[in-house]
Amino acid sequence: MEQYIIKGGNPLVGEVEIGGAKNAALGILAASVMTSEPVVIENLPDVRDTAVLIQAMESVGTRVERIDRHTVRINASGIDNYTIDDGYIKKIRASYYMLGALLGRFNQANVALPGGCNIGSRPIDQHLKGFRALGVKVEVSRGMICAGCDNLVGSHIYMDVVTVGATINVMLAATLAAGKTIIENAAKEPHVVDVANFLNSMGANIKGAGTDVIRIKGVEKLHGTTYSIIPDQIEAGTFMFAAAITKGDVMIKNVIPKHLESISAKLIEIGCQIEEFDDCLRVVATKRLSSTHVKTLPYPGFPTDMQPQIATTLALSEGTSIVTESIFENRFKYVGELQRMGANIKVEGNTAIIEGVDSFSGAEISAPDLRAGAALVLAALVAEGITIIDDIIYIERGYEDFPEKLSLLGAVIEKVDSERDIQKFKLKVG
Ligand code: UD1
Repeated sequence: MEQYIIKGGNPLVGEVEIGGAKNAALGILAASVMTSEPVVIENLPDVRDTAVLIQAMESVGTRVERIDRHTVRINASGIDNYTIDDGYIKKIRASYYMLGALLGRFNQANVALPGGCNIGSRPIDQHLKGFRALGVKVEVSRGMICAGCDNLVGSHIYMDVVTVGATINVMLAATLAAGKTIIENAAKEPHVVDVANFLNSMGANIKGAGTDVIRIKGVEKLHGTTYSIIPDQIEAGTFMFAAAITKGDVMIKNVIPKHLESISAKLIEIGCQIEEFDDCLRVVATKRLSSTHVKTLPYPGFPTDMQPQIATTLALSEGTSIVTESIFENRFKYVGELQRMGANIKVEGNTAIIEGVDSFSGAEISAPDLRAGAALVLAALVAEGITIIDDIIYIERGYEDFPEKLSLLGAVIEKVDSERDIQKFKLKVG
């Protein structure tokens, strides 16, 4: 079993390059099957989630050619079936985007119920409600979502909750529906805007992405395009907190600072210095950080995908902090692991009450999900002694070359997969 082994104690110093946004990439990859013309996608992150979605696209007849590690050429002219039910697709949440994409182009799609990180019940009722409003008949049985119609017809849809997934999914299908669709109470995340921009570059007519009302005029067909994915807001945020927690000095390159404002604001509030440039950010922490209160919210609020990273940082800050999770109900599973490292955190419902401690100590721990896994790596970077993290497959779903990028900043971290590797690491670091 592959694990990360980490010797804590080094401040991170230097420069790190952020990759393309995983969550935008998943929407964009799915959308690329909506035309029979070739599509080139650049700045595609090379992570497990994108690899799994590409496999699913290939399973229905899409040709995906890797031009280089971060560029693919997609040709979906040969799609010959509309059913995606292989076991692996259940592992990722964003498999559901194939529903919107295939429905848009072929009026038919059958996709296995999505999986993804176990961070709450994660219903898909808003996706299905949106499709039904577009005239689609949807049935869920034996683990499959089966959807079909003769014609997609534009509609006026009010989302009961702000949801990234349903906003993107309904936008995909509505792009090729007859007439006009209005999505109210839409999610405003940067990746919603990126998927809309991608679709528009293929000839779609989508206005208002990035606000809470998205207006879509259906078009008859989409054409090929070349498109570069935006930088990953959450990977960038994770490195910002890695700099903060290790009292480091890191230049985070290839970012859109505007997308990181809620994260920068919290870091400044707890005592970091942030310098903003056109497409990079420098995060410097020179002293023990202070406590704060934070509540996760849809964009432009503080992202739920950054909740474990900020809570971990606050667990070493001076004083009492309160972290409230308002998006997913089961997102504090990493707290038990942090407690084993010495953190003093009490979880009550959707709130974590954190009493800052002076230090963590190394332990053997497991990543419970993607972002929590990344947060545990941050904890290990400052812990006294050695930490071994299991279940890193979760972390690899969303972070490309995480140990390599951290090593370049001075972290002592390696990916190992045997007791022998672990002993070798221990001998090396002393
Ligand atoms: C996406 C991201 C995930 C991020 C989350 C919130 C991807 C692949 N994943 O997940 O990293 O944490 O946005 O920013 O992009 N909900 C419903 N009914 C639905 C859909 C959602 O009630 O049909 C609820 C969810 O339970 C949750 C909230 O809406 O409480 C937000 O979920 P949503 O934005 O849809 O998350 P995902 O798209 O699954």
